[in-house]
Amino acid sequence: MGRIVELKHPLVRHHLAALRDASTPPHLFRDQIRRLSLLLAYEATAQLALKPISIETPLATTECMELACRIGLVPILRAGLGMSDAILDLIPQAEVWHLGFYRDESTLQPVEYYQKFSTSPPDVALVVDPMLATGGSAIEGINKVKKWGVKNISLLCIIAAPEGIEKVSTAHPDVDLLVCAIDDHLNNHAYIVPGLGDAGDRIFNTL
Ligand code: PRP
Ligand code: URA
Repeated sequence: MGRIVELKHPLVRHHLAALRDASTPPHLFRDQIRRLSLLLAYEATAQLALKPISIETPLATTECMELACRIGLVPILRAGLGMSDAILDLIPQAEVWHLGFYRDESTLQPVEYYQKFSTSPPDVALVVDPMLATGGSAIEGINKVKKWGVKNISLLCIIAAPEGIEKVSTAHPDVDLLVCAIDDHLNNHAYIVPGLGDAGDRIFNTL
């Protein structure tokens, strides 16, 4: 059974304030997405497999550890790019595989427009998207990652609606879900309340 984790760390709660603030301009909004993505990734990767490696320090030979798995970051375009760029700082050897979905605002259904996956799937996939609203985009994204052959999948979102969490965890009970905040509800246009507005538009200054 996958975990559902809402980070309660004081830094997460602090950085969410500026992220949500409607007066935060895009360049500072991107900084906040970055900070929160690093905190999410730190928690999401706590169980990664390690293997021993022998290292020469200037003074002696010592046993250290290195990651024993191939890690794939799967940003859901567009907004997920703000998260995968940040997480690459923490896991520079990670592979980045892209999935393009936009939400049709009349039907609220995800529409796929891009997929770039390798022939051999990574051992672990971190699917990243700042917003989990109805859950449609995340469910479809995870469907694709499972079809690719990845067994160990986590979904990292910055803000989630309870409705989206319920749908994703029902469709994919084996997937870990890590979020910075679980908000109150979706409005009539399926926007998260209080939320932060449109994440893609705020990251890319296309409001
Ligand atoms: C946003 C967000 C998610 C999706 C969430 O993307 O980044 O991908 O909506 O909504 P859902 O849970 O109801 O599917 P959007 O469609 O606005 O595309 P964008 O990232 O290109 O702005
Ligand atoms: N997509 C967003 O960017 N924000 C929302 O609140 C819902 C979907």
